[in-house]
Amino acid sequence: MWNREPVGGPFRLVDHTGKTRSDADFHGKLVLLYFGFTYCPDLCPTDLATIGALVEKLGKAGESLQPLFVTLDPERDTAERLASYVTFFHPRMIGLTGDEASIAKAANAYKVYYAKVPTEHSYTVDHSGYVYLLDRAGRYLGFFPPGTPPEQMADVIRPLVQ
Ligand code: NI
Repeated sequence: MWNREPVGGPFRLVDHTGKTRSDADFHGKLVLLYFGFTYCPDLCPTDLATIGALVEKLGKAGESLQPLFVTLDPERDTAERLASYVTFFHPRMIGLTGDEASIAKAANAYKVYYAKVPTEHSYTVDHSGYVYLLDRAGRYLGFFPPGTPPEQMADVIRPLVQ
């Protein structure tokens, strides 16, 4: 799963309590980073449930993991909306939003594909669904492909948190 392409970089976004957050705020922890949107019908809920299950599975060691959810739909995903959404999946999960340019910068740094697609009454957002893992200095370590079971993720992460 590990690759050496340059992926990642600094970001400056707003968390689900309305506080400005940068990548540096999470240094010292391993970060699980996921990009999606709260109206996502299938991919996001499944992957976020996996992340929540993974953190619990790691028990005490899971406390050194910080799950982050960055919205790709800042137009609809306000801090308030993110607050109820992310905490449903894990009480320590942090939702991040921002203006379109800040979101695009963060998404592009991680080579996230996303595109707004009109629907009959509104729109949806097509997006890639990778779970990125960052080290304690905020550097990209690698990603888990969509559908990776929490047990398999725990096997990879456990040696890093002990
Ligand atoms: Ni999604």
